[in-house]
Amino acid sequence: MDLTKGKNNDNISDELLQSQAHVWNNIFSFVNSMSLKCAIQLGIPDIIHNHAKPMTLNQLLTTLQIHPTKTQCVYHLMRILVHSGFFALQKTSENEQEEGYILTSASKLLLKDHPLSLAPFLLAMLDPILTKPWHQVSTWIQNDDDDDAATTFALPHGMNFWDYAVRETRLNHFFNEGMASDTRLTSSALIHKCKDVFEGLNTLVDVGGGTGTLASAIAKKFPHIECTVFDQPHVVADLKSNGNLKYVGGNMFEAIPPADAVLIKCVLHNWNDEECVKILKNCKKAIAINGKAGKVIIIDIKMESEKADYKTTETQLFMDMLMMVLVKGEERNEKEWAKLFFEAGFSDYKITDVLGVRSLIEVYP
Ligand SMILES: C[S@@+](CC[C@H](N)C(=O)[O-])C[C@H]1O[C@@H](n2cnc3c(N)ncnc32)[C@H](O)[C@@H]1O
Repeated sequence: MDLTKGKNNDNISDELLQSQAHVWNNIFSFVNSMSLKCAIQLGIPDIIHNHAKPMTLNQLLTTLQIHPTKTQCVYHLMRILVHSGFFALQKTSENEQEEGYILTSASKLLLKDHPLSLAPFLLAMLDPILTKPWHQVSTWIQNDDDDDAATTFALPHGMNFWDYAVRETRLNHFFNEGMASDTRLTSSALIHKCKDVFEGLNTLVDVGGGTGTLASAIAKKFPHIECTVFDQPHVVADLKSNGNLKYVGGNMFEAIPPADAVLIKCVLHNWNDEECVKILKNCKKAIAINGKAGKVIIIDIKMESEKADYKTTETQLFMDMLMMVLVKGEERNEKEWAKLFFEAGFSDYKITDVLGVRSLIEVYP
C-alpha cells in the first residue's frame, strides 16, 4: 500500500495534509498550557482587569515594563491566547480603529483576586515537579516492576507523590493551594445546585478534605452541621478548628471519624480498586456508628457519560492520564464505580451529573 497516495490516487492528498496538521496540533498541545502559565506568571489577566477598558498592546507593554527587545514576544503570546479564548480584542472606543485586549469569562477565572480563581490550580498542575514524570511514562509502562506502589512520578523523584509531599514543603503547599482553588468553584456549585444532599445531616466528615475549603463552605452555609476535615497529619497540622468546623489528622486506610455522612472529593480517583474498596469500607463503618442510615457523598469524574461533549470527554481523559502518571489512580465509568460500591458492602447509589466535568455520587449502605 502506498501511504503517500490519497483516495483518488493523487500524490499528496488533502487527507494526508490534514493528518499532518492533526499530528502537529497534538505535538504542540503543550504550547497552549505553557503560554497560559506564562501569562498568569506575568499577571496579564490582572493587568487587563485593572485597566478596566480595552487595553492596547502598547499600554500592556508599558505596564509590564519588559525590555524593549521582548515587546514583540508579548504580541505573539497574546495572539495565541486570543486564539485559545482567554482574551478577546475590542475597539478602544466607538470612533477608533485601534483595538485592545479584554478578558473573557475563562480569563476572569484566572484573576488572582477572583473568589473562584483557578490560578493556583493552574500553577500547581504545571509546576515542573508535576510535569517532569511525563517524560518517563513509556519507561514506566515497560518496567516489569511488580511493586504496586511504583508510579511514574517516582521515576524522577525517587518516591511516590504522597511521600514526596510530606518531605517537600513547597509541593505540599502549592498542591494544597491548587486543590483548594479548584474546590472553591465546585463547593459553590454543590451548595447552590445540590442543597438537598445535605438535608437531615447533623454531622459530616470530609475525608482527604485537604485544607478544608469544601467543609468550611458547608459549615458556613449549614451552621447546624458539625463538619470535620480529615486528612493526613502534615496537611491539617497548622489549621485551627473554628465553630462548627474542626480538623483531624489521620489515615483513611486505618479509620475515619464517625459522622452522618462522609464526603470524599477527588480522593478515590487517586487509588486503585483494592485501595478504594478499603477506603469505602472505612467510610461505611464511619457512617454506621450513629446507628442511622448515613451516606457517602463522592465528588469525582464519571467517564463515558452520554451527556459529555467533546471538550468534557477530553478533559476527563486528561485527568485519567494525570491520575495514572502521578499516583497510579484512574477515572472510572459507572460500571466500574458500581463494582467498587458493591464490593465494599454498599447496597445502592445515585449519580447526578451536575458539576461539569465531575459528578455527584451518593452511596447508601
Ligand atoms: C487530590 S487531593 C483532594 C483534596 C480535597 N478533597 C479537594 O478536592 O480539594 C487528595 C487528598 O487526600 C489526602 N490523603 C492522601 N492519603 C491520605 C490518607 N492516607 N488519609 C487521609 N487523607 C489522605 C491528601 O493529603 C489530599 O489532601
